Amino acid sequence: MEDKDRIRSEVSRSYGAAVTGGGCCCGGGAAAPKGAVARFAGYSPAELAALPSEAVTNSFGCGNPLAFAGVREGQTVLDLGAGAGIDLLIAAGKVGPGGRVIGVDMTDEMIAAARRNVEAAGAANVEVRKGLIEALPVESGTVDWVISNCVINLSPEKDRVFSEIARVLRPGGRMLVSDIVVRDLPEFVRQSASAWSSCIAGAISEEEYLDGLRRAGLVDVEVRERLTYAASQIDAFLESEEGAPVAASCCGGAPSRVMLAGVAAQLEGRVWSAKIAARKP
Ligand SMILES: C[S@@+](CC[C@H](N)C(=O)[O-])C[C@H]1O[C@@H](n2cnc3c(N)ncnc32)[C@H](O)[C@@H]1O
Repeated sequence: MEDKDRIRSEVSRSYGAAVTGGGCCCGGGAAAPKGAVARFAGYSPAELAALPSEAVTNSFGCGNPLAFAGVREGQTVLDLGAGAGIDLLIAAGKVGPGGRVIGVDMTDEMIAAARRNVEAAGAANVEVRKGLIEALPVESGTVDWVISNCVINLSPEKDRVFSEIARVLRPGGRMLVSDIVVRDLPEFVRQSASAWSSCIAGAISEEEYLDGLRRAGLVDVEVRERLTYAASQIDAFLESEEGAPVAASCCGGAPSRVMLAGVAAQLEGRVWSAKIAARKP
């Protein structure tokens, strides 16, 4: 198995475990109070109250990508790495019965959770598809908005993701994603499989992110908002996964979570969530 596939499979294992009761992941692990991640990510209490509780407690985002998006009734929204569906359901309300929302995710447990939440919310305009964000199961030129919440950092092939975004958008279609970006990440953190699933090791710099989107042919590429994490929040991202082997690693001899203990202070100011926008010409 290639390294890229091993990374995807370790990420999928982590998120499958997270949704069935384990811990890991973007926004904090098992010790984070249920629902805290969503509140911290910037959803309003009113938005959260309107959703099935499982969609809120199983959210692992780092922003609220739809907060400032001008999504209109009748449009088509695609969510990359939709997870348990929190943004699918918010998008469903914005596009209304005449619009469509498609979520793509690779993890069976997440797809099952999203489908349960879509059914519980009675959102008939939402479809959840299994697939990779590097090879989207979506027709070219059919989507008005691509959104994503804390997912692209997890991809070992970000240029493929950026090309796929450009492919599926209609001319004039827009992208608005919340994602983790980093500055000067120490190499030993980069090598950690657990820090990868926690949305830190795979994250790239803001400049690399914007350049990648431009190379894919997108325009009006910009950062709209930044939320820089304090050491305590980075610590929550990196915290131990319940029951995980101490040296769990996907990429060969990488540092374990235990070895990462205490690095949060060093990372303060170097890890943030950015809201990144772009448009297909
Ligand atoms: C950090 S969670 C975010 C979930 C959701 N967006 C939210 O805000 O709660 C990452 C999700 O992306 C999915 N994912 C990660 N890499 C992926 C890939 N390469 N292709 C498809 N899904 C992926 C994981 O299975 C997981 O459900």
